[in-house]
Amino acid sequence: MSTAILGLQWGDEGKGKLTHLLAKDAEFVVRFNGGPNAGHTVIDRGVKFGTHLIPAGAFYRDTVSILASGMVIDMEVLRQEWEMLSEHLGWRPTLRIAENAHLIFPYHRMLEEIEGTGKHFGTTRRGIAPTYRDKAAKVGVRAGDLLHQDILERRLNLRIEQLKRAWPEHEKVQSLRVQDLAAQQLAWAQPLLGMIGDATSLVAQALQDRRRVLFEGAQGTLLDVDHGNYPYVTSSSTTFAGLGNSIGIANPSVDVRLGVFKAYMTRVGAGPFPAELTGEMGDQMRQMGGEFGVTTGRPRRCGWLDLVALRHAVRVNEVSEFAITKLDVLSGFNELRVCRAYRLDGKEIDRFPLSSEILERCEPVYESFPGWEEAIDQVRDVHDLPTAVHGYIQSIEAAMGVPVRWISVGPEPEATIEVEL
Ligand code: GDP
Ligand code: IMO
Ligand code: MG
Repeated sequence: MSTAILGLQWGDEGKGKLTHLLAKDAEFVVRFNGGPNAGHTVIDRGVKFGTHLIPAGAFYRDTVSILASGMVIDMEVLRQEWEMLSEHLGWRPTLRIAENAHLIFPYHRMLEEIEGTGKHFGTTRRGIAPTYRDKAAKVGVRAGDLLHQDILERRLNLRIEQLKRAWPEHEKVQSLRVQDLAAQQLAWAQPLLGMIGDATSLVAQALQDRRRVLFEGAQGTLLDVDHGNYPYVTSSSTTFAGLGNSIGIANPSVDVRLGVFKAYMTRVGAGPFPAELTGEMGDQMRQMGGEFGVTTGRPRRCGWLDLVALRHAVRVNEVSEFAITKLDVLSGFNELRVCRAYRLDGKEIDRFPLSSEILERCEPVYESFPGWEEAIDQVRDVHDLPTAVHGYIQSIEAAMGVPVRWISVGPEPEATIEVEL
């Protein structure tokens, strides 16, 4: 039995909580995209973690955690997370790091600053776009290169020479030294070097043997480099299509495609957001939902649930089940809204525009629902939820044609309701 956990909005849907919860029964947990731009909140035995690179499987002793080739890895961050978890758990989590996953170097982060792209797009400033760019431009350095110092230095040399030619006046660029970069990287990676290798065969075998495999997506569909609203996206494939490529398996047999979405909507960074609430109500949602970035601490922009965007995400990922999160945050709103269509140039449309400029011009067309007053964070049985909650969920299921399997009513793992399908 295998499950893929996929974000259906602009990230931060609660994937970390769901992955940690389901990883309890998994033998393998595979992160397949993104890098330390992700911030996944996990509450493990009462202790809260914000993980960036390490898959949630690392919290369980007998689970193998795999970092697949579609990821970009910052060894300094990974090492810190691995040490931190080792201390919390009392054992050292077993990882497998794909030899063909690309590495983030300090100069990638520097490039986001000096090129101004970090500021312009409101990125997480973790060097994500420059690293994926180097990968596509064939001047990247991969995890497997750490196992051969001569190859590592040769690859670094090519890129550093290029950078020095491109930035002749820039002091920090001119002072980059290949040997220092290589030595620093090897020092961070040292205890993890034995974990770098072939990830594809391991995942392929696990799927073939019908082992319990869980795939942990990062970011969300609307941030996908191809299927999100470009250019206000991240640089990787955040959708199910990216999963197959990342693990190197053409048509992976994944039984459940679990699409995770918040009962409302948030976005961090720049870019259009048709159903955004900019006034007091947006502030209320941000406060009630604790909507501040795990990676950067930035306040998240908040708004109503957008069914146009959700429909797009369902289609792109062929979602088979939903997990709806943070429903508890909507307690106390006497009226709820969902955006059921956009108005563009006087006409109603229900297709999500992939161009940011077009999306910017879209006005939300709302449908209203009665809210509920009661706190629901202690509810553990679906039958104990207020009638208005059922109405809200059922209308989403009907509009999307996908059943809700998990309802999350709080950040803790136990604040989760499983619905019998
Ligand atoms: P991810 O990036 O998709 O893993 O999500 P984040 O961890 O960045 O953001 C989700 C935030 O909501 C975290 O602070 C979680 O602890 C919290 N959270 C997750 N599910 C729920 C829920 O059902 N209710 C509430 N109130 N908080 C939740
Ligand atoms: P998780 O896995 C929310 C956003 C950034 C920015 C854009 C590009 O926690 O859901 P990047 O640094 O990737 O080049 O930034 O993408 N972004 C996220 N927003 N959650 C994430 O990950 C994100 N990862 C990137 O804020 O708008
Ligand atoms: Mg997050």
